[in-house]
Parts: sequence; structure tokens; C-alpha cells
Amino acid sequence: MSVQKKSLTQPVVFTGFMGVGKSTVARHLGYLLKTKMIDLDRFIEETERRTIKDIVERDGEPFFRKIENDALKIALSSDDAKIISLGGGTWTLERNRKMIREKKCLTVWLNAPFEHCWRNIRRSKNKRPLLQDKAGARRLYDDRQKLYCLADWHFVIHPDQNSLDVARQILEEIF
Ligand code: S3P
Repeated sequence: MSVQKKSLTQPVVFTGFMGVGKSTVARHLGYLLKTKMIDLDRFIEETERRTIKDIVERDGEPFFRKIENDALKIALSSDDAKIISLGGGTWTLERNRKMIREKKCLTVWLNAPFEHCWRNIRRSKNKRPLLQDKAGARRLYDDRQKLYCLADWHFVIHPDQNSLDVARQILEEIF
């Protein structure tokens, strides 16, 4: 089936650890399917007119989680947004998972070895206010696996695969 003939019958939501490449893969998938994609972190930053780092550092994580939940509600109610890329912590909260399930979204866990995520995190470390060091990131990664696991569909990224190939493969395998 050609890419043009494929269409989404339910919204697709990407979850996974920081640095796994959720936003990039979701953007490629949006491009391949010619459909709107929302990057939740970017949406929050545009709405708040400041960075996630600034929000967390000035107002704390609980405040960030509250506006993240509000942003998710808006993203899920948008009729034309068929692809949503979550922040790495969004899916770990039950209230967010509940909303996503109620909208009958297809949830995709992008999974990669910790070292793969860490390499990407290090490149943009000051964008991620909740990470202090590698040991802390590793703990968070290990703790969250059981929650990411609750997604409908698990996709393992190989370190030598580029994000466009990942999006193409998801397109072939899921749709
Ligand atoms: C977070 C991940 C970040 C961002 C915030 C919190 C997390 O998104 O939402 O810094 O708790 O894992 P990315 O996964 O896009 O880095």
C-alpha cells in the first residue's frame, strides 16, 4: 500500500524516555501521512511563552505537570491533530494515561537502550531540567520502563536507524 493511501483512523500518541527521538519520529510520520502533528513540549512552550526549563526552575515540577495535563487535554480535543508526541514524563501519570485511553488513541512506546537516549540527552542537556546526572537519568529510565510498557504498541529503535526510517517502519507495521 502506498503512503498516500494510508490514513489514521485513531490518533497516534508517542511516548518514551527523553532523548529517544519521539518528536523527530512523530514529525516524520506526520509528514509521511500529510497530517498535523503536535509536539506537546513545544505546544506548552508556545502557550506559556517560555521554555520548559524556565517553567520547572521557576514554578516547580508540580506546576509543570499541571500545565502539561491542561496542554494534553487541548491537544486531544483538536480534531485535526492525529499525531501527538508527549514529553517523557506525560505518560507516566495515570491521569494523562486515562485521558489518552478515553480518546481511543493508539499509543506507541519508542524504546531504545539507555545509552542511546543518554547520548542524545547529553547533546541538549540544559533543555531537560529534571535530569541532574547520568546515574539519576538511569534510575528514572529504569523506573519508567514498567509504565511505558503499558502503551499499546512497542517499537524498539536500533541505534544505527535514522528517525525517518523509524517513521517509515512504523507506518508499514502499524497501519
Ligand atoms: C520530561 C521530559 C521532557 C519534558 C520535561 C520533562 C520527563 O520531554 O517534558 O523536561 O519528565 O521525562 P522530552 O522527553 O521530549 O525530553
